[in-house]
Amino acid sequence: MFKQEKQMQITIIGSGYVGLVTGTCLAELGNDVVCLDMAADKIRSLNSGVVPIYEPGLDDLVVRNRKQGRLQFTTDTALAIEHGDVIFIAVGTPPQEDGSADLSYALSAASDIGRWMRTDKVVVNKSTVPVGTAERVHHAISIELSKRGIDLEGTNSSEGNTRLRCAVVSNPEFLKEGAAVEDFMRPDRIVLGVSNDALGQWALSQMRHLYAPFNRHHERTLVMSQRAAEMTKYAANAMLATRISFMNELANLSERLNVDIESVRQGMGSDPRIGYGFLYAGAGYGGSCFPKDVKALHRTGIEQGVAMQILSAVEHVNQRQKHRLLDKVIAQFGGDLRGHTFGIWGLAFKPETDDMREAPSRTVINGLLRAGARVQVHDPVAMETGQLALQEDLMDVPELWGQLSFHDDLMDAADGADALLILTEWKSYRSPNFQQLKSRLKNALIFDGRNLFDPQQMEQACFSYHGIGRVSRPTTPTTYPSASMATTD
Ligand SMILES: NC(=O)c1ccc[n+]([C@@H]2O[C@H](COP(=O)([O-])OP(=O)(O)OC[C@H]3O[C@@H](n4cnc5c(N)ncnc54)[C@H](O)[C@@H]3O)[C@@H](O)[C@H]2O)c1
Repeated sequence: MFKQEKQMQITIIGSGYVGLVTGTCLAELGNDVVCLDMAADKIRSLNSGVVPIYEPGLDDLVVRNRKQGRLQFTTDTALAIEHGDVIFIAVGTPPQEDGSADLSYALSAASDIGRWMRTDKVVVNKSTVPVGTAERVHHAISIELSKRGIDLEGTNSSEGNTRLRCAVVSNPEFLKEGAAVEDFMRPDRIVLGVSNDALGQWALSQMRHLYAPFNRHHERTLVMSQRAAEMTKYAANAMLATRISFMNELANLSERLNVDIESVRQGMGSDPRIGYGFLYAGAGYGGSCFPKDVKALHRTGIEQGVAMQILSAVEHVNQRQKHRLLDKVIAQFGGDLRGHTFGIWGLAFKPETDDMREAPSRTVINGLLRAGARVQVHDPVAMETGQLALQEDLMDVPELWGQLSFHDDLMDAADGADALLILTEWKSYRSPNFQQLKSRLKNALIFDGRNLFDPQQMEQACFSYHGIGRVSRPTTPTTYPSASMATTD
């Protein structure tokens, strides 16, 4: 990776998944970075060299850059804001009851900037925020500055007031948890939303300098308006979520028609206009982004009087899909699961992360426990975050906690279970010792919410195997719809 030609002073507000990765990677490029967070325990942990999240490759980068003095962690807002010429806002934007993004953290970070800035700043919005937020961030900064008798360049100024420059750039983040460092260091594109004036051009030149190491091979920067950049992030996540829900709906229908969704996926994906990405059927999407971003974009539509019907269907299908495995278990064992035990492989919402936000495993485990079952779980990295998330889910029924056990060994989680349920496609689950698995399970029965195995091979290994839209021996239908076939263009 190329290094920065001239070191820049960078501040990151919010040291969670995005902020910590952004700050650490920018330090790795040679910049002088201060990461701020209001969560004192997080900062304490980072200052003692312990990275509070699981993200491949991140620990080493944090340790190295701290040691070399380019990366600091603090809870001191004034110090952090003084430090950065470029200040990133990377705080959470969780969903509110009505689905809209809660901007209170982002706007409070903006107010902090206005309260403490004493030199010109480029403020970069990395959080996923609704269209129009860059203007609101700029406004929140200017209000605090005016309380201190400081005016922003480009706004009406009072006589005698000091003037400072502050431009807001919308720079949405597209990294994927589990591959965050790699994605940040090798971005497909860098979206920069700037205002169409001198201030915007000034900010753009600084951002171009900061991101120059990523553009040596070819230009990856897309410059647009702030509002377009904000919309781009929602549009991208909504599109990916749509593909997933579409495939899940097709998979459910395919099951009924005795069609293997895997053949369909390959047949569709080979069309270059469609491509293979994000066409996997499964137990539904989760995580901190897709669910909240789909809801927020849908809510924006409502506020603007534009019905986003596709998005409401995407969300609805996903909610239903999270129950799909549970429905299959109930179809097999009945609604009263007392006296039954189920093994679970996978808690995290996807592999290579310990993130439990909106993970489908939570829906399934909750459903099993509430129906009276005992549940034995395994996850290679999300055991701690999984315990915290499930404790929260079971707050109204704490007595069910005793029916849940956590196992460090994946075979122990299957021990004596009536069936095994797979909810995260961890690599370590892909080729287990099937003989051993069969001997540990009470029944050789697997409900696979991630379609890890080939149904025919599972049948040969004498497992009863239920994937999502997978069938082991597709049969030719004896009757055909009489209507003319649709064209395929
Ligand atoms: N997680 C992802 O994969 C991902 C990917 C792309 C974009 N995003 C977006 O990035 C944003 C951040 O997501 P995240 O997953 O990193 O969130 P997170 O919850 O992991 O981290 C946010 C951090 O901000 C801190 N914080 C909040 N307000 C603060 C303030 N005023 N001052 C200092 N610290 C403050 C919190 O304590 C927390 O540690 C969200 O808008 C999200 O949608 C996330």
